Amino acid sequence: MKFFIDTASLDQIKEAKDLGILDGVTTNPSLMAKEGITGYDNIMKHYKDICDIVEDGDVSAEVISTDFNGIVEEGMRLADIAPNIVVKVPMIKEGIKAIAHFTEIGISTNCTLVFSAGQAILAAKAGATYLSPFIGRVDDINWDGVGLIEEIAEIYSIQGYETEILAASIRNSKHIVDSARAGADVVTCPLDAILGLLKHPLTDIGLEKFLADYRKGNQ
Ligand code: E4P
Repeated sequence: MKFFIDTASLDQIKEAKDLGILDGVTTNPSLMAKEGITGYDNIMKHYKDICDIVEDGDVSAEVISTDFNGIVEEGMRLADIAPNIVVKVPMIKEGIKAIAHFTEIGISTNCTLVFSAGQAILAAKAGATYLSPFIGRVDDINWDGVGLIEEIAEIYSIQGYETEILAASIRNSKHIVDSARAGADVVTCPLDAILGLLKHPLTDIGLEKFLADYRKGNQ
């Protein structure tokens, strides 16, 4: 399973990269705004900076147009930034048309804002490279986010779809473990959720004891 970080913070992307486990980055307009990145030129430059840090990992850059021509025009400009840009397109009728077009001309896509298995089937038919089911937001309305990943993974396996399931809207480390078990190909996570995977009290107690015993025998 690939690990992406879900942020537009260059510091957090660098920290995840330094950990040696980073396969890519996802962003969205809310994450860009959170970092104070506004205005077309600044946004384009920020994507370039992210791509430079990630090197050859995939970087999802989201369009803000909602009509076919606008999505295609914006997507082409985003794809020109770097070869590792993946054009992130919303799960709407015009978005599906645009994904099918991008698939035809060899541009990678990430179909975002996915909340059902039916949407997942449509995105796979259109040839999306990645599919982003938002599991945290599904949990927020008291449905089963990880269950949605399981359902999509089963359908994709039966049908032989090649679209990669990218579990998004991850809120904690358990979401990462559960997504891995449910058949996600990729998880995109906040840095805290990734670092949370390190934690176990028995690791801390065990390490403290090993170091104390070493110190006793090597005074
Ligand atoms: C995915 O690509 C989205 O950017 C993100 O995971 C949404 O997460 P949120 O529901 O925490 O905003």
